[in-house]
Amino acid sequence: MEKIVLPDIENLHLIDVYEKHGGFTAVKKAFSQTTDEIIDQVKKSGLRGRGGAAFSAGLKWSFMPKTTDKPKYLCVNGDESEPGSFKDRQIFEFNPHQLIEGILITCYTIGAKTAYIYIRGEYHKWIKLMQKALDDAYAKGYVGEKMKETFGIDFFCNIYIHKGAGAYICGEESSLMNSIEGKRGYPRVKPPFPAQNGLWGNPTTINNVETITNIPKIIEKGWEWFAAIGEPKHPGTILFGVSGHVNKPGIYELPSGTLLTDIIYNYAGGVPGNKKILCVIPGGSSMPPLRGDQLEGVKMDAESLKTVGSAIGTGGIMVMDEDTDLVKVLARIAHFYHHESCGQCTPCREGTGWMEKVLQRILRSEGSISDIDLLISIANNIEGNTICALGEAAAWPVRYMVTRFRDYFEARVSKEISLPVANKVHSMRQTAIPIDDVKY
Ligand SMILES: Cc1cc2nc3c(=O)[nH]c(=O)nc-3n(C[C@H](O)[C@H](O)[C@H](O)COP(=O)(O)O)c2cc1C
Ligand code: SF4
Repeated sequence: MEKIVLPDIENLHLIDVYEKHGGFTAVKKAFSQTTDEIIDQVKKSGLRGRGGAAFSAGLKWSFMPKTTDKPKYLCVNGDESEPGSFKDRQIFEFNPHQLIEGILITCYTIGAKTAYIYIRGEYHKWIKLMQKALDDAYAKGYVGEKMKETFGIDFFCNIYIHKGAGAYICGEESSLMNSIEGKRGYPRVKPPFPAQNGLWGNPTTINNVETITNIPKIIEKGWEWFAAIGEPKHPGTILFGVSGHVNKPGIYELPSGTLLTDIIYNYAGGVPGNKKILCVIPGGSSMPPLRGDQLEGVKMDAESLKTVGSAIGTGGIMVMDEDTDLVKVLARIAHFYHHESCGQCTPCREGTGWMEKVLQRILRSEGSISDIDLLISIANNIEGNTICALGEAAAWPVRYMVTRFRDYFEARVSKEISLPVANKVHSMRQTAIPIDDVKY
């Protein structure tokens, strides 16, 4: 199978090697076409965003206004802070020039003269590698004003790397823009959407690193070629990041629709000690977990995962074997979302904390049977009631883990309601019942 995003070519990160393998020819081809023609090809290719929501890339580009005096922008989202997601870093390291070429084509198509690559600040190594690649591309005249001369066109654009400060919420597209503007990384209320009112109030497109890296190959080989790879409704390859209890964790670029069991057992080498799988989260920690006995026949693409009650997210596959403490896992996930909530909306700010507290209580063996429904109720009250999708990201793993593993969670709590000591003292004071009469 031909790899599109991370081909097996040694030293492809070097600009000379990239050029030798046909690099920067797709952008030349794109510059000979109209922007409508390019949007049409990307739409027909069926390319869907790889940043989590799987939205059509061509359709998103078509939302950018064609006639406007305002400057337009492209933001390339490389914040990659979701637990279980580690694919975009591989592109910065092993194929940065294809990303740069994709950015040039995208900027030309949407009419942006400035692009920002937003990278999480802690990714020092990848920021350095990406900056080196960018410097080399500038030096060769592929980026910046020299583009006019290099390509013989009346268009140029500049690309800047913007370092984040290590906040998961800054991967959300509107808080990413606030962050670039130098503001606190608070998500914005939508509408208005970024294509109308983005960076500094100007039309802006935000795409994931992997999404953009696909573009040069679609232009070079044609939309029909891309559309024929993998599942027709979510075509192309996907970078699957496999982590957890597998023998060979890592990134595997495979056609969309590859069987989940194939990825785990054939590519990632199966589970250590041939243990059974208890649970798999198929798309990064925010996606609905699947039971181990639900995995047979599950295909890894957006539409197929919907049919089994999950979602493709960022393609980060987290495998947990039969000895995993799921309460501990879920409490850890809940802690992450509580910690990363920006605090603007009450259901998310408070609800994420409540879910974490309840899970910690169950973990300490102080949980009651009613805590199970309490967790589901809190999750349901967060979902759909927040400014941004961090609300769903926090609610989904809790709601689906608890409902799909209800037997497991019930076994971890006592059937009788046992109030923590603090409440017993409190009720005694209020009712003045002698301590021996209190039923626990
Ligand atoms: C809390 C939160 C964090 C996100 N983090 C990322 C991220 O790190 N990278 C990313 O590409 N998209 C992330 N997204 C999705 C973006 O908002 C946006 O949908 C995406 O960058 C669009 O690119 P695409 O259409 O190419 O997928 C995040 C969304 C939310 C709600
Ligand atoms: S859902 Fe959470 S992270 Fe998103 S804006 Fe509201 S409080 Fe902030």
